[in-house]
Amino acid sequence: MTNKIAVIGFGNIAKAIITPLFDKKLLKPEDVYCLVNTKKSLENIKKNYKYDINIFQANSKDSEIIWDCQVKLLSVKPQQLKNIIEVNKNKGNLLVSILAGVSLENLRKRFPNHKCVRSVTNIPITIGKGLTGISWGDEITEDQKTFTIRLFENSSKIYEFPEYLLDIFLALTSSGPAIIALIIEALSDGGLSGGLQKKLSEELVMEMILGTVSLIKDTNLTTAELKNMVTSPGGTTISALRVLENKSLRSALIESVISASNRSKDFS
Ligand SMILES: NC(=O)c1ccc[n+]([C@@H]2O[C@H](COP(=O)([O-])OP(=O)(O)OC[C@H]3O[C@@H](n4cnc5c(N)ncnc54)[C@H](OP(=O)(O)O)[C@@H]3O)[C@@H](O)[C@H]2O)c1
Repeated sequence: MTNKIAVIGFGNIAKAIITPLFDKKLLKPEDVYCLVNTKKSLENIKKNYKYDINIFQANSKDSEIIWDCQVKLLSVKPQQLKNIIEVNKNKGNLLVSILAGVSLENLRKRFPNHKCVRSVTNIPITIGKGLTGISWGDEITEDQKTFTIRLFENSSKIYEFPEYLLDIFLALTSSGPAIIALIIEALSDGGLSGGLQKKLSEELVMEMILGTVSLIKDTNLTTAELKNMVTSPGGTTISALRVLENKSLRSALIESVISASNRSKDFS
């Protein structure tokens, strides 16, 4: 990766994307120009970040250099977007946004001199296990596509989508970790209610989920086949499933995903 990269908002997710590229020597710290908003973050990164990057505070005189970079990773919070004002230096440079719910149309309006790409990623990217959905804007060159894929592929699996599917992708993959965390918590409370220590109960739930997912992936069982395998007539599992059907868990989960997707559409 030879292009100079600007990172507008060097926060948690941007660090998760950029750091593996330094670790694998695919990118040199001196080729990366980062912006943060506050002096506190600037000093914290200068003191504690393991690589010696070029880092500036937004709106400082020196920070304008970021607009010379061929590629920009836009990674502020959506509500901070209004503070990012494009400086028109070159036409056709690449801008890759990771802002949840901000549409390509909105990005094009704000950055008319850039070719914009909209991406959606999720929190497991911070441990290199993210899922990233990408929607290409107009007239993106093959080189720019390749560059964008290289940006994400060391920290996540990549899926390409038409833009209208990014909201449902976001609902499943970005809101999904919170839904799963809630399920882990609730099942652990079930164990707790039956007399297990909280920590042990949580450990058992997580190991059970990991084992179940591996079983489905490794054996190509369908979820229905797996369910039938462990559900014997008049047994404990059908008793548990009956309670969940009675409480409409399936419907609640389906509606939760649709609701998150609709909320994402509200933002764009
Ligand atoms: N967190 C998640 O689970 C998640 C998952 C997937 C995608 N995302 C998306 O990723 C984006 C970043 O999220 P995050 O969790 O990494 O947020 P974050 O840690 O708060 O990072 C935001 C960064 O933007 C900087 N910033 C704020 N205003 C700025 C300005 N005017 N100019 C330049 N930099 C500015 C902040 O600097 P200061 O520290 O100085 O304020 C901070 O470094 C969001 O748009 C979110 O939708 C988040």
